[in-house]
Amino acid sequence: MARYGHSRGAYIHYLEMDMIRKQPLLVLAPMVLAAGLSAPVQSAEKLTYYCSAQEDWCQLMATGFEEATGIKVSMTRKSSGETLAQIKAEAANPKGDIWWGGTGDPHLQAAEEGLGEEYLSPLRAEQNDWAIKQAESAGNQTIGIYSGALGYGYNEDVLKANNLPVPECWKDLTKPEYKGHVQMANPNSSGTAYTTLATIVQLFGEDEGFDFMKALHKNINQYTKSGSAPIKAAARGENTIGIVFMHDAVKQAASGFPIKVVAPCEGTGYEIGGMTIIKGGRNPESARKFYDWALSADVQSRSLEVKAFQVMSNKSAQSSPMAPDLASIKLIDYDFGKYGSSAERKRLLKKWDDEVSVLPQ
Ligand code: G6P
Repeated sequence: MARYGHSRGAYIHYLEMDMIRKQPLLVLAPMVLAAGLSAPVQSAEKLTYYCSAQEDWCQLMATGFEEATGIKVSMTRKSSGETLAQIKAEAANPKGDIWWGGTGDPHLQAAEEGLGEEYLSPLRAEQNDWAIKQAESAGNQTIGIYSGALGYGYNEDVLKANNLPVPECWKDLTKPEYKGHVQMANPNSSGTAYTTLATIVQLFGEDEGFDFMKALHKNINQYTKSGSAPIKAAARGENTIGIVFMHDAVKQAASGFPIKVVAPCEGTGYEIGGMTIIKGGRNPESARKFYDWALSADVQSRSLEVKAFQVMSNKSAQSSPMAPDLASIKLIDYDFGKYGSSAERKRLLKKWDDEVSVLPQ
C-alpha cells in the first residue's frame, strides 16, 4: 500500500470508489444484451490508405474495401514520388498503413530504406512471376500489383489543327515543330515521369539520354505534378502530346476523346506498379487484410470498371481487349534493381533538376 502513500483505510475507500465507478458498466452490459441491441454497426477497425494510381481507381478500391470488410478507410491520393517523400517524412511516427499503386521504383526505394513491412500473402501463388520477382528483390516489403508500358498519346484534332505530323518515335518529340505541344510530369513528384527519365537513360545511354531530355525540355509546355495529367489535358484539348503510360492514354480514348496512343519506335520502358505495407503503421491487421484483398482476382478485375487497362498481377484477373498488348511492344529490359535504388533515383533526379529543369525554354 505504501506506493499509494495512503493509509489502509484510504486504500479500501479507493477500491470502493473504483467499484462504484465501474458499476454502471457492469449493470448496463446485461441490459444491452437483454434488449437485443447489437454491437455498434460501425467497425472499430480503420485503415489509412495512401494511393498513387488514378483517382477514380483509388476511390473504387477504398469504397470496395469498406463494403467488403466494414473497415473505415481514410484515403489520400498523391503521386508516387510525393507519397514516398511523405512516408519518409512520417517515418518516426507513421500515419499511413498501406501504400497501394504508383510505379514500382519508389516502392523499391522505400523497401531499401526500411520503410516497408515484410509480408507474405496467402494469395502470393496466384500472382504472375514478375510481381513476385519484385517482392523477392525487396525482401518482401513490396509486391507488384500491375504492369504497363510507357509511351505517349496525342490529341488527333489538335495535332491536325496545328498541321503537325504524326509522331512515332521518342526522338520526334524533340523536333522544333512540337515546341509548346508536349507535356510530361515532373520526375520528382511523378513515378510516370521518373520512369520516363530512367527509360530514356537506359535506351540511349546517360549522355545521349540527358541530351534528349534537354532537347525535349525546349518543347515542354508544362511539367505537371501527377503522371497522367498530361493526357487528361490533351483529352480536353488543352495540350497536344502527353508522355504517359500507354494505358492512361487508352483510358482517354476509351472514354470517347480523340486520343491516339503511340508505342515509340525506339522501344520503351515499363512499370511494375507496387503495394507496400507501411512499417509501424497504426492498423497493421487492416493493412494485411487490404493487401490480401487487393491481390485477389475479383478485386483486380474491377479495374476495368474505371478503365484502368494495366496488366494485373493476379493470373486470373480479367483483362480488356482494349489494354495495350505488352507482347507486341518493343520493351527494354528495365533494370528495376538499379533504377529503383535510392542512390540512383536521387542521383538522376538531382541531375535532371540541375541540368535540365533550369534551362530556358
Ligand atoms: C497512373 C497510371 C499508373 C501509374 C501512376 C503513377 O495512375 O495509371 O499505372 O502507376 O500513374 O502516378 P504518378 O502520378 O506517380 O506518375
